[in-house]
Formats: sequence, C-alpha cells, structure tokens
Amino acid sequence: MEIVVSGIRPTGKLHLGNYFGAVKSFLQMQENYQTYFFIADIHSLTTHPTPADLQGNVRQVLAEYLAMGLDPDKCALFIQSDVPQISELYTYMNMNAYLGELERSASFKDKVRAHPDNVNAGLLTYPVLMAVDILIHKADYVPVGKDQEQHLEMTRTFGRRFNNMYGVECFPEPKAFSTTGELIKVPGLTNQGKMSKSGGEGDAIFFDDEEEVTRKKIMRAVTDSGPTELNQIKPEAIQNLFDIMKLVSTKDTIEHFDSLYNTCEIRYGDFKKQLAEDVLSFVRPIREKIQSIKSDDTFLGKAAKTGAEKAIDSAEKTLREVRELIGFKRFY
Ligand code: ADP
Ligand code: TRP
Repeated sequence: MEIVVSGIRPTGKLHLGNYFGAVKSFLQMQENYQTYFFIADIHSLTTHPTPADLQGNVRQVLAEYLAMGLDPDKCALFIQSDVPQISELYTYMNMNAYLGELERSASFKDKVRAHPDNVNAGLLTYPVLMAVDILIHKADYVPVGKDQEQHLEMTRTFGRRFNNMYGVECFPEPKAFSTTGELIKVPGLTNQGKMSKSGGEGDAIFFDDEEEVTRKKIMRAVTDSGPTELNQIKPEAIQNLFDIMKLVSTKDTIEHFDSLYNTCEIRYGDFKKQLAEDVLSFVRPIREKIQSIKSDDTFLGKAAKTGAEKAIDSAEKTLREVRELIGFKRFY
C-alpha cells in the first residue's frame, strides 16, 4: 500500500478551516493509504514554548484529531518526540545538508525577517528535520499546500543525495499530494481572507469554544445594510457567511436564505441565528468528544502508544538500513 506522511503543528485549538481544509482529507487518506500523521512537537521547539504550553498544545491537538475521527487502528497517529529514530536520522542527514541551500529556503528567510532575534540553528535545519519525518517512513506522498512545496523539493534533494552517496535506492522520492485546489478554503468571520487562528479576535470558529462564544462571534460578523436590487451579487462579507453555511446547513436552509437575499427580504439577524445554530449542531458532537478525550489520560495514552509503536517499527527498519550503509558497526 502506498505510504502517506503528514506533520501537524501543535498550535492549540482547531477551527472549522482546519477541519475542512486538512482533517477531512486525513480521514479519507486513513481509509486508502498507509498513513503516518504526527504532531510535530520537535519542530515547534524553534519558537521556545514553555513546557506547560508544549504539553497543553500537544494534548489539545491529539484529542481533537482523535475526536474528529482519526482512528489509531487505521492510521499511525503519533507524537514526533516519541520516535527517537527521527532525531537520530536528523543528526546523520544534517551532515549532508549545506548552509547555502538551507539559507535559500523561503520559509527560513521569512522567519529571519519576522524574528531577527531568534535565528537559531533548528530554524535553519527545519527542512532537514521535515525531510527526515518523510524519508524515515519511505513515504510516497505528502499532502502539502503551496507553502510547503519547497520543503518537499528539499526532501527529494536530501533523499537523492543520500542514495547517490551510497549508491543505493534507500529513499524513494516523495510526491506532493496537492491539497490546494481540491479542498475548500473556509472564509473567516472578520477577515477577508481564510479563517485563521491568527486572523484576530472573532475570526475563527473553534471546535473547543464554549457555545456562547461561538454564537456571539457569528452574531457579530460584519454584514451590510442589505441587498437593494433583485438577484444582486453578494458582497464578500455576505458571501463568506453563505460559504460557511454551505458547510454546515441543509440544502433547504441554504436555498431559503439565498432566495430571501435575492428578493431583498433577508434579515441578517435571522440568517446569522440560523447559521450559528447549524454551526453548533455540527460542532457539538465533536466538541463533546474533545472534552471527554482531552481529560482521559488512559485513552490518550493508549492512542499515542499505538501510534508510536507503528511509527517506531517503520522508522527503526529504515534506521537499521541507514546505519549499515553509513558504516556504523557495533563491536560488541
Ligand atoms: P491557521 O491558518 O489557523 O494558523 P494552520 O496554518 O495551523 O492554521 O493550518 C493547519 C492546516 O489547516 C493546514 O493544512 C491548512 O491548510 C488548513 N487550514 C487552515 N485554515 C484553513 C482555512 N480557512 N480553510 C481551509 N484550510 C485551512
Ligand atoms: N512544516 C509543516 C507545516 O508547517 C509541518 C511538517 C513537519 C510536515 N514535518 C512534516 C508536513 C512532514 C508534512 C510532512 O505545516
């Protein structure tokens, strides 16, 4: 079966955009591929989180992915730091990654510009660690958005370089599983762009928010004074709300409000109230699961252990090959 690897940044609570733009495709992939999904906690150290933040975020993301339907029996859902083989291979691969190429990476340049006071070596070698995440499982596919394509190209370069150095075909070339285009881009409530946790107060609908918070955010979403012409094109802010409605409401509800808009009879208060209730009906069962899983250490532990075991199995197999190719030899 073809192998898919994807990393998840442990950034805390997930929103509707994350679900429709990422998690949903993971749910499909776990049915059809051998999948390795991991929480990239080692990567996150480049920003120096406190131990409490690191732990809290990993727990939150793990609980949310499980609540949303990632199944430890179908995929390997694991925490990166649970697999020491990753750090080992990272050490070896760093010897064949060059300063020039690492400095040319667009994401490195962005980070240097954004945080000139924290240009650490881990940031520079981020693409090496990401390559290792992928190569260690000999992945065929990596679901990536546009912003990660250069990292994937570097992954192929590092893998090829290793293969050439030892005259072997150890690492296959992973291909992008393009997630741009096919997947829905969920608009934010306040932003003109996509829903994002960094989109400012009130932009994102988080699964793990209190219902009242979500209701308020939706009721406060900016509208206008209403349509004045029959069948007029909806301005962006209104279209965005309709786009969110398309994800959570029934066809009848959408058609109902669409036709009220077209006849200039829509009342945005009613529209948003309906949207809020439909969002909440969608979010509620997942939120309830998040809440119960988040505090269930036995369940979380079992899931993380199952994932780690699968990942370690696959990683150790590759490492044995790599150690031998490099020429390490145990004398005892
Ligand atoms: P954020 O933009 O809130 O910081 P991340 O960058 O952590 O979210 O995104 C994690 C995943 O969720 C990525 O695969 C990203 O493409 C997807 N994603 C985030 N926001 C949206 C959105 N509004 N619509 C579709 N996909 C999204
Ligand atoms: N760099 C990715 C991001 O910022 C996360 C990531 C780390 C990743 N390792 C990976 C993604 C391996 C795919 C495969 O979103």
